[in-house]
Formats: sequence, structure tokens, C-alpha cells
Amino acid sequence: MPQHDSSTSLIGLGKRYWLPVYKPRDVVLDRGQGARVWDTEGHDFIDFGAGIAVNALGHGDQDLLAALTGQAGKLWHASNVFWTEPPLRLAEELVQASGFAERVFLCNSGAEANEAAIKLVRKWAAAQGRAPEQRVIVTFKGSFHGRTLATVTATAQPKYQEGYEPLPGGFRYLDFNDATALEAAFAAGDVAAVMLEPVQGEGGVVPAAPGFLKRVRELCDAHGALLVLDEIQCGMGRTGALFAHTHDQVQPDIVTLAKALGCGFPIGAMLAGAKVAEVMQYGAHGTTFGGNPMAAAVARVALRKLGSVDVLANVARQADALRAGLESINRELHLFEEVRGRGLMIGAVLAPAHKGKGGEILDHAAAHGLLVLQAGPDVLRFVPPLTISDEELAEGLQRLHAALAAFAGA
Ligand SMILES: Cc1ncc(COP(=O)(O)O)c(C=O)c1O
Repeated sequence: MPQHDSSTSLIGLGKRYWLPVYKPRDVVLDRGQGARVWDTEGHDFIDFGAGIAVNALGHGDQDLLAALTGQAGKLWHASNVFWTEPPLRLAEELVQASGFAERVFLCNSGAEANEAAIKLVRKWAAAQGRAPEQRVIVTFKGSFHGRTLATVTATAQPKYQEGYEPLPGGFRYLDFNDATALEAAFAAGDVAAVMLEPVQGEGGVVPAAPGFLKRVRELCDAHGALLVLDEIQCGMGRTGALFAHTHDQVQPDIVTLAKALGCGFPIGAMLAGAKVAEVMQYGAHGTTFGGNPMAAAVARVALRKLGSVDVLANVARQADALRAGLESINRELHLFEEVRGRGLMIGAVLAPAHKGKGGEILDHAAAHGLLVLQAGPDVLRFVPPLTISDEELAEGLQRLHAALAAFAGA
């Protein structure tokens, strides 16, 4: 066994040197296999969080590793002033898989993909001859689109924005799933785009209501606006389809991806449909690392495997098992008022008596060998690897049951 600093002294480094913008649990993870990870002290955990919906193929996937190491042995980086093969192939494969996109912009994170989408909307509107005040982007309360200044402004949650004013203008916030409010918002005649997550993630795991996406598309078409879908968390197979919006049979103009696109290697992508694919020309946007060949080599494998019949069938199967397990635990402990979501993106909403206790429950979970996430203080979020096995899922549910029983008895 390799020697490790004790986790306490490692955590001390984080507390001393990191800008304290995060509050990780006191666990130092060291290695992983499948849906299981181990800390530096040798404890094992079932991973129901997958690095915030990122490790969709679990840990230690041999095909991802082969793609990464193969490319790492050849060429790490070329920038965007020369071509390399992996991002070219990836772009073609994303276009083909999407069924709507014509072009792709590669970047390094979700926020960057959304930043690109926001800029593309503005450029498109400008090219249409719309004045700046006619380029409003509608987003929805509870959304999460990233932490850059524009994407945090698109994120219609004050807690992420406070203190960063002045925020960029040109965003309007509506209630999610309120088609009547959207209709009214269009009446002003200044909306250039509607941007939304088909399943809101950070905002509490809230799926778009049946028919909502279709209605948004109709209104966008009627008023000459673009439909931008942020599939950074809900895309790449998580809902049981490679792209979440295909459940609703809508055709978006722009889709953003990140997280599971690299299965843990940083990469983001903005996919642009016919209306917008030619809007940005030479010099309009860019990034040094976008299209990095190592990231692209990994993402090609991720795309192929996450879109496979086997993985998507496993999502459906394990989603049923996870929901059934949560409901069974709840029949005994009565902690949740609702279990909701789509595919392997499931939220358990805490009952009124337990509101605000998500963090406390996560501590119990970690103590019982289970990694889970919150989506705000009132919702437990389950986003395990899409390849999780029957045994791993069952073991995770047992650990969850023990953790919740300890919480309820505390
Ligand atoms: C829906 C959604 N959009 C955007 C982002 C931002 O992605 P990143 O953290 O990679 O910038 C996230 C991250 O949680 C997300 O869930």
C-alpha cells in the first residue's frame, strides 16, 4: 500500500490554502472502480454522486483510460491554430449523434459552453438587426447555468449572484414550467432566446412538465426567438436518452454539454443548429484549450459508450430500482415528500419536518459509506454512474437506509 499523509493533514492543506469557496466533506478520495471509491484511509464508498453527474461510466473505465493514455503518449495540446484529429472526429460525431446540430464549439467546462451559447444568441440577434435591448434571454427560476458573470446572471437564483453586481443586462427570469408567463414575456417583443435545462439539476432536480418544452419551442418559433437547452447535467444519457430533449420531441437551436461528455476529463461543447451555425465567424470567439486532443479523445469514447443501447438500457433498469428503493425506504421512515426526476437523475424532496437538513443527511451517508449530493438544502440528489451494477445499487440503497435511519433516530 502506498504511504499517504493522514487525511486530516491533507484536509488541513485545503483549509489553509484553498480559496474557501467550497465545503467538501472530510473525506479524501484516492481511487475508484465502477461505482465504488476508496479514501486515503482505505474506507470504501458507493458513489451515488459521480462527481456531480460527471463520472457517467463509473471509475476506472478501461476504454476511457486507453483513449487518454494513447493520446497522452502522442500529443497533449496543439491550441486552435493547428488541427488535430480527435476534436475533428468528435465534432463530426456530436453533430451526427445530435440530429439537429451543424457545427460544434469545443471548450473546457459547462460555464464556458453556456457563455458561448449566450454570446451566440447575442451575435445572432445582432445579425438580425435587433438593437441591444431587443436581445433579452429568458431563463427560469431555479436554473443553474454556471459561475462566470454572464452564466451566473442567466442562473436565476439570487444566492449565486449576490455581491457580484453589476450583473450583465438582458436577462429575464420566469417561473419554470409556467407557459402562460412565458407567453406574456414574449408580448414585450424583445426576447431573443429562451434558455433552460430540460431537467433542472442544482435547482432541486425538477423536470420540465409534460408538454412544456414543446410549448416553449412553439412560442420561440412564433416570436422569432432561439431555443437554447442546457444539457450539461441532464444530457449524455443520464435521463435514458443521449439527449434529454429527445423525450419531448423538440428540435433545439443550441445545446450545451459538459460534465459526462468527458466522464471526468474537463471538456464542454456547444452544439449549434442550422439557424445559428454560420453566425460566428473568424475571431468571434475562442479559447486556448478548447478542442484539446486528450479531452476530445476521451469524449469520443464517452459519446460512443453513453449512447449505446447497453448503457441506456441500464439507465432505465437502475432508475426503476433506485426509485423503488427510495420509495421503500420512505414507506418506513417518512422522510421524503416526493421522489422525482428522470432516468438516473433523481431528487428526493425532504418532508417539511426535515427541510434544510440535506447537509446533515449527507454527513450520515458518508459515515455509512455512501456518497450522495444535495440539490439545495431540501433535496437529496442521486446521480450515480450510468453503468452502476445491480449489486452496487443494492449496496448503496442498504447504506442509504442505514444512514437515514441514523439521521431519523438522531
Ligand atoms: C445545468 C448546468 N449548467 C451549467 C453548469 C456549469 O458547469 P461547470 O461547473 O462545468 O462550469 C452546471 C454545473 O453544475 C450545470 O449543472
